[in-house]
Amino acid sequence: MRTIEEILSSGDYISGEAISRELGITRAAVWKRIEALRADGWEIESAGKRGYRLIAGDGLHSALWQGGLRTQTLGRGEVRCLQSVDSTNSEVKRMAAQGAPSGSLCVCEEQTAGRGRLGRTWVSPPGVGLWQSLLLRPQLSPEQAPLITLAAAMAMAQAVRETSGADAGIKWPNDLVCGGKKICGILLEMSADPDTIEYVVVGIGLNVRRGSIPPGLEAQAACVEDIGQRLPKRREILCAYLEAMERLMQRLEAGGWPAIAEDYRAMSLTLGQAVQVIGAQSFTGTAEDIDGRGALVVRDSATGERRTVYSGDVSVRGLMGYV
Ligand code: BTN
Repeated sequence: MRTIEEILSSGDYISGEAISRELGITRAAVWKRIEALRADGWEIESAGKRGYRLIAGDGLHSALWQGGLRTQTLGRGEVRCLQSVDSTNSEVKRMAAQGAPSGSLCVCEEQTAGRGRLGRTWVSPPGVGLWQSLLLRPQLSPEQAPLITLAAAMAMAQAVRETSGADAGIKWPNDLVCGGKKICGILLEMSADPDTIEYVVVGIGLNVRRGSIPPGLEAQAACVEDIGQRLPKRREILCAYLEAMERLMQRLEAGGWPAIAEDYRAMSLTLGQAVQVIGAQSFTGTAEDIDGRGALVVRDSATGERRTVYSGDVSVRGLMGYV
């Protein structure tokens, strides 16, 4: 039986009578459900005898996108589309603890305690960004987990390019950048024992509309609305990301880093650049390569030695600015 969200998602007018028949509830109960959806942010028009019609706008409810999604598992396990949540990463960890399958997803309008890398806060106002986390139970070893961050960055870069025409590139390890400004960040969290990954949560925050950029960060951050040739709906970007991510994860699980390395290099804004590594040991050098565990290999400009830099420990900046 279809849910009321699925019935409305056709975008056509549907009478209260037809909804009540399909759901086996009274007209008054239909009205109550419509009011509850409206309170949740759904824009639903009512036009006398013609009935109700959903003005889908930029909504994220799965009834609006799952039907057109071309994946086998990603975005298909347990899918939660929430109005507000502390952090989609935290929500997906709770889902994982309850046994949710690989491919499960949480996407929301607003995060009240969004988290970034290195213990930072990720500001996530309602309606303007794509704040979502994906649960994966991959066939990879724990030391290969950072490669999933790189695959996610590639998938989101492809999705942004495909849906908006923006020329997004990847700043190692996990930022999408366009015109020198950050549009997206990725937070990967993992539960594993020494040999096996139990699960990873791949959380991505993409600035879509102008209100997504925190005040004071306009010089470093941009959004799809500013950089794209068109402004896609957030659910179009989400579907394109899930489709690209599924293909990349299949390649990664089958062939490890070499299977995706060449495509990553083509999208990288860091490789070949002079960089400043900021962490317990700070130094400058040239970013030369990514190794089989996703670490950055930098030739130290003072000593000439090749040093391996792990993403959890450092911040990497270009010598002349953020990229
Ligand atoms: C960064 O510091 O660049 C990473 C930011 C990651 C933010 C996303 S938004 C969706 C998911 N939920 C969170 O709490 N964080 C990630």
